[in-house]
Amino acid sequence: MNLEKIRIERQKWMRWKNIAPLREALDGLVELTCKCDLGDTIRLTCAARNEEVPLGCKENIDAELIKKTAKILMPWRKGPFELFGLFIDSEWQSQIKYNLLRPHFNLKDKRVADIGCNNGYYLFRMQEDDPAKLVGFDPSALYKTQFDFINHFVKSDIVYELLGVEHLPFYEEKFDIIFCLGVLYHRSDPIAMLKALYKGLDVKGEVILDTFMIDGDEEICLTPKGSYSKIPNIYFVPTIPALKNWCLRSGFKKFEVLETSLTCKNEQRRTEWIEGQSLEDFLDPDDSSKTIEGYSAPKRVYVRLVK
Ligand SMILES: C[S@@+](CC[C@H](N)C(=O)[O-])C[C@H]1O[C@@H](n2cnc3c(N)ncnc32)[C@H](O)[C@@H]1O
Repeated sequence: MNLEKIRIERQKWMRWKNIAPLREALDGLVELTCKCDLGDTIRLTCAARNEEVPLGCKENIDAELIKKTAKILMPWRKGPFELFGLFIDSEWQSQIKYNLLRPHFNLKDKRVADIGCNNGYYLFRMQEDDPAKLVGFDPSALYKTQFDFINHFVKSDIVYELLGVEHLPFYEEKFDIIFCLGVLYHRSDPIAMLKALYKGLDVKGEVILDTFMIDGDEEICLTPKGSYSKIPNIYFVPTIPALKNWCLRSGFKKFEVLETSLTCKNEQRRTEWIEGQSLEDFLDPDDSSKTIEGYSAPKRVYVRLVK
């Protein structure tokens, strides 16, 4: 597979008629020297003052332009971010997942990939460990543009590839640790995806993955008819024993459950930074233990897989 050819092709996505105006807006942003705080909210402040500068207070921060640009980049699924006082309250409180996983990894000097990295929220936070390299994979022109918007100010060395998990086996370098969060249930061939992750690892590498799960000891999985929690492209939702079988059959030697968690209405909710619906609309209004389709409500399992 010729990745360079795919990269060139996908660079053309930036000229799509819904994306081109967003890219033009980014071109109009001024250069600023910023301080980046990698807490639960990725917070940018003006480095010169080393303190929060409310939007509009400083001549060289064009508050309206930053706000307008952030707004046209909606929907913001992952975050939160704060840009010079402008709070981008994303649909997902991504710090909940990041903080849940935080005790389970140390990225110091590691080559790290985040597959399905969206706008790069986790990657920005992972800089705190001083990894050797951070690479995000996500075939979305919009999320790449959100990343470029934030990174215009952060100026990180994070590499963002408009590639998918299917390209990982052909990637020019291998990784010590691969995060693949919230992607497996979107794949119609989950074992092929797990094999791709395996092939992306260097010897002794590991994967940290999460996916929707159903309770039970049987080696089975739910195959939603049309949608699951109103999400159309959810193909397989396994029990933990079924997920373990998939992982072992993909070549992994070790399968360790790190955590399980139910998605709560505090973690995923409608905000002014998305259009349309969120979790509260996806659950049965009379029984929040069920999705609107009658399946068990979204529950995730977080696992570590070792090569
Ligand atoms: C449910 S979101 C998960 C985002 C983030 N990893 C998280 O856990 O919060 C799924 C992400 O996978 C991305 N995606 C779609 N197709 C993909 C593919 N073929 N390979 C990798 N990521 C993909 C989407 O653009 C989206 O950002």
